[in-house]
Amino acid sequence: MILKTDPTSTEPTPAVTRAAAVLRAGGLVAFPTETVYGLGAVATDARAVARIFEAKDRPHFDPLIIHLGSADWLDRCVASVPPEAGRLAERFWPGPLTMVLPKRENIPDIVTSGLPTVAVRMPAHPVARALIHATGAPVAAPSANRFGQLSPTTAQAVEEELGQRVDLILDGGPTQHGIESTIIALGETGPRLLRPGPVTLEELRECLGREVIVATGPSATPESPGMLLRHYAPRTPLRILDSSTAATTTRDRRVGLLAFRAAPASRDFAVVETLSATGDLREAAANLFAALRRLDAAGVDEIIAEPVPETGLGRAIMDRLRKAAAPRA
Ligand code: TXA
Ligand code: MG
Repeated sequence: MILKTDPTSTEPTPAVTRAAAVLRAGGLVAFPTETVYGLGAVATDARAVARIFEAKDRPHFDPLIIHLGSADWLDRCVASVPPEAGRLAERFWPGPLTMVLPKRENIPDIVTSGLPTVAVRMPAHPVARALIHATGAPVAAPSANRFGQLSPTTAQAVEEELGQRVDLILDGGPTQHGIESTIIALGETGPRLLRPGPVTLEELRECLGREVIVATGPSATPESPGMLLRHYAPRTPLRILDSSTAATTTRDRRVGLLAFRAAPASRDFAVVETLSATGDLREAAANLFAALRRLDAAGVDEIIAEPVPETGLGRAIMDRLRKAAAPRA
């Protein structure tokens, strides 16, 4: 069931109050954050969290992010807060930055997939904040899609992905950033970027005043399963265009183009989706998953994506495109 709620209200609307009651009773609620829609359950309720994995067909080796109502709640989930975590929280929270920190024992192993660390963030979206406060507890929430598929940026996309598998979908309109939060691990070996996102590598380095190692490459035992080779993928095969060649197509295939800026001259494409007419990376990121969803629904044989410049948010966009283009296992 989809319930609309005022996307600007940090006060609990009737829809939010109802959603909080569903969460407290062990249910699953999909809700908007400033990045993408999340599928939430109370983080300390292991049975409710288990339902998240079922609803998403998510493998149990892929841990969840816990969403906090305020930075003061860190102590509820984290064993110790290193000074650098405090600095990052002060600068980027509420907002699209997730930190991986040593976990407290009260957090069930199912949330962290048995890891000694836990991923936490404080979302900025008014609806997410109102929901977490009305629930009165940290909320574990992955993106509200089937495992490996495109993250949803609208309530309708959540419904397409999960339908009856979720007890309630809070509709707070389209999300602002359109791609998932940046993930940084703060361990003894120094800060490491596990997933590029709306908070850029440049901003993290600047805030910490030191090097942040980029650890986003795929690996067999991923430290962050967002690092899995194939992820964030449409069902249609996707190929990234070489930056030096123009997008072309042949007559016998229906090809969809994911253009970065204003559409090129070729009319041979069955569908063209433009991420940002002016080539703005923020706008492009916000449109990315919805554009891929539309291309996927258009029934083309192949999607060709133009590369974007790999600076700032462009790094996060290219990370998602490369994973979407990776061969199926
Ligand atoms: O923007 C977001 O982060 C969205 C919204 C809903 O908050 N959530 C999201 O969650 O993207 P999910 O589950 O789709 O991605 C979470 C990523 C996964 O790749 C997971 O492996 C990583 O966070 N993660 C969670 N706990 C971790 C940990 N202890 N160590 C390393 N990576 C972790
Ligand atoms: Mg996800």
